[in-house]
Amino acid sequence: MDLFEYQARDLFEAGGVPVLRGIVARTPEEVEQATRTLATPVVVVKAQVKTGGRGKAGGVKLARSAEEARDRAADILGLVINGHTVEQVMITEGADIAEEYYFGLLLDRANRSYLAMCSVEGGMDIETLAEEHPEKLARVEVDPITGLDAAKADEIVAAAGFAEADRAEVARVLVLLGEVYRDNDATLVEVNPLVKTGDGRILALDGKVSLDANAAFRHPDWTELADESRDDPLEIRAREKHLNYVKLDGSVGIIGNGAGLVMSTLDVVAGAGKEFPGSPTPANFLDIGGGASAQVMADGLDIILSDEQVKVVFVNVFGGITACSEVAKGIIAALEILGPKATKPIVVRLDGNAVEIGRHILTEAAHPLVTMELTMDSAARKAAELASTN
Ligand SMILES: Nc1ncnc2c1ncn2[C@@H]1O[C@H](COP(=O)(O)OP(=O)(O)OP(=O)(O)O)[C@@H](O)[C@H]1O
Ligand SMILES: [Mg+2]
Repeated sequence: MDLFEYQARDLFEAGGVPVLRGIVARTPEEVEQATRTLATPVVVVKAQVKTGGRGKAGGVKLARSAEEARDRAADILGLVINGHTVEQVMITEGADIAEEYYFGLLLDRANRSYLAMCSVEGGMDIETLAEEHPEKLARVEVDPITGLDAAKADEIVAAAGFAEADRAEVARVLVLLGEVYRDNDATLVEVNPLVKTGDGRILALDGKVSLDANAAFRHPDWTELADESRDDPLEIRAREKHLNYVKLDGSVGIIGNGAGLVMSTLDVVAGAGKEFPGSPTPANFLDIGGGASAQVMADGLDIILSDEQVKVVFVNVFGGITACSEVAKGIIAALEILGPKATKPIVVRLDGNAVEIGRHILTEAAHPLVTMELTMDSAARKAAELASTN
């Protein structure tokens, strides 16, 4: 879960990292008010969007009065930066910047470790710097068990080539950022720029934080950070029903049991789709897991059938612990629960535990929407064909 800059700023402040005051606002009038509250000679109006390159896109502007801040906010609100519309801005004090540095701490999955990156040449062009002058970006592995302790922080500032006089204070701030990373179960804490001010203070002037959603169970307060405005409405509904659903762009709805089977079903459907006009592709990923009850099947079908792009549903189940007979009953029961909401053809492939009984139940039921296929390939072809002709 990615955070907005102002949320990262709040976490930094709570962790003792030196930051500037910041106030979030959604209208130019609120910005004017916020600027008066800050009462500093210069404020910076900053677009709050979860994407980089805000400065270059015109999303970060200085202002010297409340009126000017209001006008800059009017320019910035509504701006679209990398596909993200600016709906809120943060008003922050203007800093007297002497030097801009870069610091990032992130989860390095490949090495099962953390990686710290740091440079004395931070600021807006860090990506270019990393590409053209990789030697100027120090990369230091951080052991997740010991974390970013004082000794590691000293190593990082030395590797990045900070001036002797600045090393102790920068290292102190890096340790605090490491604690923010650890205490919040983050996978990324990035500060660009970390600055030295004219009077020698080290400040985090920008913040990018990603939290590990797997740790949400021990952070009840994260529900406040969740920002569903950019999530797909069907995905939100699926989450409420505890379904593993990901919306895709195609027209063949997919339901399967087990993530591996669903993944391969997506591939097989995409492959089969190439043989038909319009090349239909999968509309979603949906894993109903083991022990799929009629209610889970109904919830899954309901979500998929609410997707207007869907023309046909492919139910692909390999009975393991869940017997195919239960799945077949679940499909019939789900169609009863859905009633008139079920309007699209459903191709079913059952195999594995109690497959004969399962197929028998579906044959007996002879539901007009249900077509049974014996293999995954033939079912995928049938589904693609129906999607292509309906
Ligand atoms: N409070 C501030 N006072 C003075 N200058 C600032 C302040 N905040 C930002 N700046 C200047 O604006 C530049 C861009 O700001 P910031 O890093 O927040 O946005 P960005 O880098 O464009 O966004 P992103 O990090 O999302 O790509 C900074 O490098 C800094 O020079
Ligand atoms: Mg930045």
